[in-house]
Amino acid sequence: MMKLSLAIVLLLVPTFAQAWPWSDDMANQISIKPQESVDLKNPGMRPYPKHSVPIPGVSSLVKDMGASEKQLNPIPADDKSVALGGKLFQIYCTPCHGYSGKGDGLVGAKLLLKPFDLTADQTKERSDGFIWGYMTFGGAVMPSYANDLSATERWNVINYVRKVLQNGQSAVAVTPAAK
Ligand code: HEC
Repeated sequence: MMKLSLAIVLLLVPTFAQAWPWSDDMANQISIKPQESVDLKNPGMRPYPKHSVPIPGVSSLVKDMGASEKQLNPIPADDKSVALGGKLFQIYCTPCHGYSGKGDGLVGAKLLLKPFDLTADQTKERSDGFIWGYMTFGGAVMPSYANDLSATERWNVINYVRKVLQNGQSAVAVTPAAK
């Protein structure tokens, strides 16, 4: 009888297993946690600036795709803008659209709806405002980049897409630093 009840107790144990001290050993370590302060004198999260309010969804002063499409690109496509845009494109867009922009990125290959070819006539004929809006609001599958790229950064990316990718040039792959 004693043995049986012990067996039952042991069977029930996994239910409470989360409460064991070693269950969260992996989480409790010296690494810095999200929103944790590295300043010992000021522990905890940095307070928000005065008068700031939380907003839901996408942070954009432009209302929607319709309003976005009509915008004109305010950033001249000079060398500096194109270079900046190229860097950002490689970080944020190549996983799906590929270095060439043709939609042959490694992540894109796994998607049911394949990333569009940004060098195709369809996108060439879109206005800069349309592309800016796509980055801002995202598409059916494509996520929004409004919280990752500033408004100006998005225009720089467009200048890069226009000047380099849509001119048949491929991005130079940034090789990770040699080990
Ligand atoms: C997670 C994968 C993914 C990433 C990353 C991504 N896209 Fe996309 N993109 C897509 C997919 C999929 C589509 C097809 C349409 C859709 O999802 O609505 C698309 C469509 C587009 C279109 C619409 C083209 C047209 O003519 O209709 C534009 C423009 C575009 N992407 C630009 C970008 C830019 C610029 C970046 C980088 C800031 C980027 N995308 C990052 C997946 C991605």
